[in-house]
Amino acid sequence: MAVPVCVDVAALPFAEGAFDAVMAMHMLYHVEDIPAGVRELRRVLRDDGTLLVSTNSVTSEREFMDLLMACGLKELPVQDARFSSENGGELLAEAFTDVRFFEERSKFVVPDPGPVVNTVQSMRYSLEAHLASSVTWEDFLFRVADAAQDVVDRHGALVTQSLSGVFVCR
Ligand SMILES: C[S@@+](CC[C@H](N)C(=O)[O-])C[C@H]1O[C@@H](n2cnc3c(N)ncnc32)[C@H](O)[C@@H]1O
Repeated sequence: MAVPVCVDVAALPFAEGAFDAVMAMHMLYHVEDIPAGVRELRRVLRDDGTLLVSTNSVTSEREFMDLLMACGLKELPVQDARFSSENGGELLAEAFTDVRFFEERSKFVVPDPGPVVNTVQSMRYSLEAHLASSVTWEDFLFRVADAAQDVVDRHGALVTQSLSGVFVCR
């Protein structure tokens, strides 16, 4: 029976070679010591095991980010950039000999400002520190709601390109 555990990827409580396959989906960019996390993922895999790692491109959702910048964000948060489609291969190659990247291109078409505002609200932990000093979080949300409504009125939807992908590592 599978037993869920909640642990730091940089200190996994599993034996060497314990798994045939491991997945690290959209999470390595949160990890404080990414190289240590990658080494642990390698350690707990069998020699011929496979690691799947997904992440975003630093250019993903540019149209959405441009809207946020126009509403009072003074710079983009760098969190995703710590482990992205662009630099992830290099970080994984420190512990894996064969690293291949499979890109996924899609787009979000959002015909209602509500989900745009809700998404921004859910990102408060990473956005608030990057607001211009004269803009409060509440001001920012009002501006995002107005700007998203304006885009929907003019174009029928906010359309933003999503660029992400999966590294397959052996
Ligand atoms: C964006 S969520 C992705 C969740 C899920 N993997 C998915 O694709 O929907 C990021 C996840 O990274 C986890 N995380 C952050 N730091 C971590 C760490 N040091 N070790 C293990 N997991 C971590 C968080 O608990 C959170 O579940």
